[in-house]
Amino acid sequence: VVTGPEDHRLAGRHVIVTSGPTHEPIDPVRYIANRSSGAQGTAIASALRDLGARVSFVTGPADVPPPTGVQVIRVQTARQMRDAVEAALPADAAVMAAAVADWQVVNAQDSKIKKDGSGLPPVLEFAENPDILAWLSRLEESRPGLVVGFAAETDDVIAHATAKRLRKGADWIVANDVSPETGIMGGSENAVTLISDDGAEEWPRMDKTDVARRLAERIADALTGPVL
Ligand code: CTP
Ligand code: CA
Repeated sequence: VVTGPEDHRLAGRHVIVTSGPTHEPIDPVRYIANRSSGAQGTAIASALRDLGARVSFVTGPADVPPPTGVQVIRVQTARQMRDAVEAALPADAAVMAAAVADWQVVNAQDSKIKKDGSGLPPVLEFAENPDILAWLSRLEESRPGLVVGFAAETDDVIAHATAKRLRKGADWIVANDVSPETGIMGGSENAVTLISDDGAEEWPRMDKTDVARRLAERIADALTGPVL
């Protein structure tokens, strides 16, 4: 496919995309994490790049390789991801597709934890991680003009995602139903609902790359102000 400047609707725009899981260490060989292949975030970064955006791609340890033609910033933990997002500002838009671990292990060890022969498991102490989406949405000076979050939910998906949008201060939430019977988790397709100030817009089930293209087009539609 040959694309000309007329397709580069995001030329001159800077977009930050977070993707993949974060890994929160327990010791040098163990960690806790959420399940995330990084496929949806990678597809979004590629689609934004294809529309001409400059993309800062902040990624945890994902299964799929990062896109070419974007700036890749590799991180492990949620704190590192937050710092990398902060360092990448200012941005016209941000899409937080990462599956950030909700907790970090406060009593992580620098040495490998060994079984001590007592048969008793080690006790891990958790603390909540920074909420990168909520923090970014509430920045005063350097808040991106458009902040997009994701919400992978089960049960009452729209209600959960709508509440999440308001709680975190995001402009849009891309919600999906990850109940086992949908087969979405780990698959190549996604069925999302875009939740904004205007309500909930259900998109048909489609390939993750098509979700990404459609979202990138919507971001281009939304960014109408002067180029930074
Ligand atoms: N997110 C984030 N930082 C966190 C947790 C989540 O930036 N520490 C972002 C995710 O990238 C996603 C959105 O917030 O865009 C929603 O993530 P989710 O895990 O659904 O939200 P939580 O507030 O952690 O709610 P839950 O208790 O349902 O996990
Ligand atoms: Ca979470």
